[in-house]
Amino acid sequence: MAVKIVETSLRDGHQSLFATRMNTEEVLSVIKDMDDAGYHAIEVWGGATFDSCLRFLNEDPWERLRQAKALCKKTKLQMLFRGQNILGYRHYADDVVEKFVQKSIENGIDIIRIFDALNDIRNLECAVKATKKYGGECQIALSYTTSPVHTVPYYVELAQKIEALGADSLCIKDMAGVLLPNDAYELIKALKKNTKLPIELHTHCTGGIAEMTILKAVEAGVDIIDCALSPLAGGTSQPCTESINYALKGTKYDPKLNTECLDKAAATLGKVKAKYLKNGTLNPKVLSFNPNILKYQVPGGMLSNLISQLDGQGASDKLEAVLKEVPEVRKDMGYPPLVTPLSQMVGTQAVMNIISGERYKLVPKEIKDYLHGKYGTAPAPIDEDARKKIIGDDEVITCRPADLLAPEFESLKEKYKDIAKSDEDVLSIALFEKVALDFLNKKYAPEPEDEIEEFNVVLGGN
Ligand code: CO
Repeated sequence: MAVKIVETSLRDGHQSLFATRMNTEEVLSVIKDMDDAGYHAIEVWGGATFDSCLRFLNEDPWERLRQAKALCKKTKLQMLFRGQNILGYRHYADDVVEKFVQKSIENGIDIIRIFDALNDIRNLECAVKATKKYGGECQIALSYTTSPVHTVPYYVELAQKIEALGADSLCIKDMAGVLLPNDAYELIKALKKNTKLPIELHTHCTGGIAEMTILKAVEAGVDIIDCALSPLAGGTSQPCTESINYALKGTKYDPKLNTECLDKAAATLGKVKAKYLKNGTLNPKVLSFNPNILKYQVPGGMLSNLISQLDGQGASDKLEAVLKEVPEVRKDMGYPPLVTPLSQMVGTQAVMNIISGERYKLVPKEIKDYLHGKYGTAPAPIDEDARKKIIGDDEVITCRPADLLAPEFESLKEKYKDIAKSDEDVLSIALFEKVALDFLNKKYAPEPEDEIEEFNVVLGGN
């Protein structure tokens, strides 16, 4: 059966390689050729793309989506959605989740890939229901990681729950790029045998194994694979679209992408890449293989964060100790997958343990919240001694965290009625608060004096 390809360069590609800085003009310059290439879907939106538009590019992410949709008539547009976190970092009330899904679909998204960092199904339910309600295609991603509890039977059981929840397809989200070729084969065989869902594989080239993993996945019957066009492929990004297309050419898996369109799109993206390489946003370091991520089982982004955190404290010599501490913290925390926001939380805790010289002497607020149950249920039991030391006998919630949140949308709409001109604006504010307010003030009140005055009026209500 022909394998389908999802093009990731407009979301994960530039997110992995140059801090999600590609602007709307650059996205639009390439999307028409992508539309003609025969992809299953083009990934265009996610937390970092949205954040970067508002924070760094002074662009409206909703406008980018509408313009992309206007040019991309044949191919489905896809986004990445962090369950109850939507595109942000905390849990939002159900009404905000539902409204965000509705507006994403109305503005041009066809497929929503929904995941939860802990694989806590309850954190997916609201977004899944909303996607179905508003006619979107619902893909649920399982966050892939390795640990004594993350076995093939564990993932099969999870996949069956995902199927029962109403997903249209299932993605293995290997955000760290640690899925080994033979493990991929075994996992995909088991998933295909035990569910009817089409299976997609998302991985990263960081460790140098992604192309091998993809080939084994294809042999095991994977339906869809994520690739990025050559200028934005490799390194910490995805395997190369053109190369995978050639590798499978003439086989029963032939994705049959139009090579002429791929070449045109790649030529355009080549110029975009050259610009970011020249201005330093793209550090050539991220283009090299880093097999250490296989040794330590940490995502590439987390590894570079740890290095810079330690550099900042003049403790670069502690890196090896911190990397050895990460699996210990993960074990104490019940083996959470290392994906946003858990990767940052576990990494920071490991740094604090090593720098302070005592385990859990210093603890970030987010880890305390996690132990109070505010992120959902950990994959495995939490170490009792660690819990006692950090939160004592505090009550731990066992319900779905968002059950404790009152509706937020209407009150935000009322509070920001002077600045938010649409529900989309309200959603931007709901997720990115001050960053979105700064952006909207610039957008609607471009005069510098007006900007300051109006901004004070808005903040005056707080
Ligand atoms: Co990714």
